[in-house]
Amino acid sequence: MIDLENGNYPIKLGGDDVLIELNQFIGDYYSSSSIFILCDSNTVKHCLSKLDWLDLENIKSAEVLEIEPGEASKSIEVYYQLVESLLDLGANRKSVLINLGGGVVSDLGGFIASTFKRGIDFINVPTSLLAMVDASIGGKTGINAGGAKNQIGIFSEPAAIFISDVFLETLPNKEINSGLGEMVKHLLISDEHALSKLDELTENVKIEDIANSISVKLNFVKGDFKESGARKALNYGHTFGHAIESFLMNKGISITHGEAVFIGILIENQLAVQLGNMSELEKSSIENWMHTKFDLKSFFKQIETEEIISLLQFDKKNIDHSVSFSLVGPIGKCSINVHPDNSNIESSLSIFCN
Ligand SMILES: NC(=O)c1ccc[n+]([C@@H]2O[C@H](COP(=O)([O-])OP(=O)(O)OC[C@H]3O[C@@H](n4cnc5c(N)ncnc54)[C@H](O)[C@@H]3O)[C@@H](O)[C@H]2O)c1
Repeated sequence: MIDLENGNYPIKLGGDDVLIELNQFIGDYYSSSSIFILCDSNTVKHCLSKLDWLDLENIKSAEVLEIEPGEASKSIEVYYQLVESLLDLGANRKSVLINLGGGVVSDLGGFIASTFKRGIDFINVPTSLLAMVDASIGGKTGINAGGAKNQIGIFSEPAAIFISDVFLETLPNKEINSGLGEMVKHLLISDEHALSKLDELTENVKIEDIANSISVKLNFVKGDFKESGARKALNYGHTFGHAIESFLMNKGISITHGEAVFIGILIENQLAVQLGNMSELEKSSIENWMHTKFDLKSFFKQIETEEIISLLQFDKKNIDHSVSFSLVGPIGKCSINVHPDNSNIESSLSIFCN
């Protein structure tokens, strides 16, 4: 088992041993608490049975709360339904919520736990690669509003995170690739040799790769929990990525978070080239790798560039109506608080014309 050093709460990684450790943790800290497990219907089907410790006697009670899979569940309506369910089921301030799922479950569940009765404990047990390397880590929780992503939320840390690769056995390939989106981001913002390592990022992800990717995130979060400085580097690819995800979500077109981040990275690299931060060669190496791995161009024809630009206004990094980017260049370094002029932003979207 890998134990990641993180001052505030334990992060354990491994296989079955991690689930045994989770059992122990619950027994040690929550034996007299009522336990709630938030799942979506896929994680009820594929992941819940892996927590067979639920039958153990040292647990007072455990109730499963189930949501529909997908981004649409990160809504105020689903939030409110779940709060009502918790009240109906007698949850109190000693209750604990286990978030068993991908990033939708950990974002929504973390937000519910942090606001229910002014805050109850929650434990993240991420089951998608993306949630393992990114969404379950770092304490950002929240839901979408007004047709834009993550407009309501709170920074709030879990009591612990348990990451077991047994869950990856049932994760569809498309979702593995989505997780690679955030792993590429972590590599490009932190490692000057990232380009020569891109080919090592394959669908056969090992627990050590997950640990390395998390360590990059933890390094940026450390000392800047509320994202006033260095942590903003983790938003590389996300200024445009979130706008694209919101745009397609509003049109009912399905895209994984990782695919949206990949497209965001391609556009923001173009911007970085225009501003002289990144070389053409670096940009093309990343582009070539992504296009050989993912069919991103199928989304290109759906994009309406004016709407994407108007969605940039919802980005939480913006100050005084000026859109703020975190741009990589040279590789391994990320400039934060970059405010390009509108003509540069518009021309970076020319990648959709190629
Ligand atoms: N809080 C943060 O710091 C942070 C960081 C990155 C992303 N996010 C958020 O995370 C969300 C994306 O997370 P995601 O990609 O995990 O999406 P997701 O939660 O929708 O999961 C993707 C799909 O995989 C299914 N699934 C999950 N685990 C499974 C398993 N083991 N077996 C079979 N199916 C499984 C889910 O049911 C879903 O259909 C977005 O809302 C994004 O905004 C948050």
